[in-house]
Amino acid sequence: ASEALKKQGTKGVKFARVHVIGAGVMGGDIAAWCALRGMSVTLQDLDMERITPALDRGKKLFKKRLRKKYEIDAAVLRLEADPTGKGVSRADVIIEAVVEKLEVKQAIFGGLEDKLKPGAILATNTSSIELERIAEKLKQPERLIGLHFFNPVAQLPLVEVIRSTFNTDAEIGKGAAFALAIGKSPVVVKSAPGFLVNRVLMPYMLGAVERVERGESKELLDAAAVAFGMPMGPIELMDTVGLDVGKSVATELGHGVPDGSQFDQLVKAGKLGRKTGEGFYKWVEGKAQKGE
Ligand code: NAI
Repeated sequence: ASEALKKQGTKGVKFARVHVIGAGVMGGDIAAWCALRGMSVTLQDLDMERITPALDRGKKLFKKRLRKKYEIDAAVLRLEADPTGKGVSRADVIIEAVVEKLEVKQAIFGGLEDKLKPGAILATNTSSIELERIAEKLKQPERLIGLHFFNPVAQLPLVEVIRSTFNTDAEIGKGAAFALAIGKSPVVVKSAPGFLVNRVLMPYMLGAVERVERGESKELLDAAAVAFGMPMGPIELMDTVGLDVGKSVATELGHGVPDGSQFDQLVKAGKLGRKTGEGFYKWVEGKAQKGE
């Protein structure tokens, strides 16, 4: 019965099986989003303690977005923990969302290549590393594309489909078709540090961080950005993205984070923002605690 329930909603879905590697902020939410949209999803991480909360976040999402109990139950069954990566060889789409470190990503893709189903999409969610550098050690570097989601995944429709110099229209077309199949809006961009969005967004966020470090109020800066029409201010956004991820992207883009700055000290203290409960703000139940 549970198999039948699991298949509910997958009929006619072109990319029926998705495997996500990395169950952190992004991987967990990408996996849940794909399950919500009808795909069977396996979610892998080195750390089971990351997978369990990701499955719980998925349940919350399904309850919010689906009305009928059987639909919610079916979505819950479609999202499975897979600590050992059994789902890889069956997947139509594989999305890597582990830490932003070149060597880690290269090692993961190197170990996957021989296990893939023919024609499966192989994608990384890297925010800033050039695709060619991740793909260069693969036997078929043309297979790897970027599918760059934005945080929070359930709220932001954009997905950058990143094209490396190895790719052909075939891989990019498939990536864009997948993004559309999960109800997102694909934009094809060339592989370059920061791609399109982070290249524009990072200087804006770092500019705000610099002002906070000079003593300006983060609450006021964030409120001004919201009044201007941004969904969230730049400091709250940096906390939401994660200060470690923000620092990696800033470094890739050549902006860097000065040693000893408040930003640097927060990262070194493991105060990485929303995901650790404290960054520039303290976070309680997913909400930044703002003072005056
Ligand atoms: P995170 O730190 O929340 O999660 C990373 C996860 O990868 C952890 O759960 C860790 O246990 C796991 N991991 C590390 N090595 C692994 C391995 N060898 N095999 C399996 N799992 C492994 O990081 P986050 O924020 O989810 O970022 C993931 C990727 O997504 C990064 O490449 C980042 O640049 C990118 N990204 C992040 C965004 C954000 O707003 N945080 C936005 C868009 C992309």
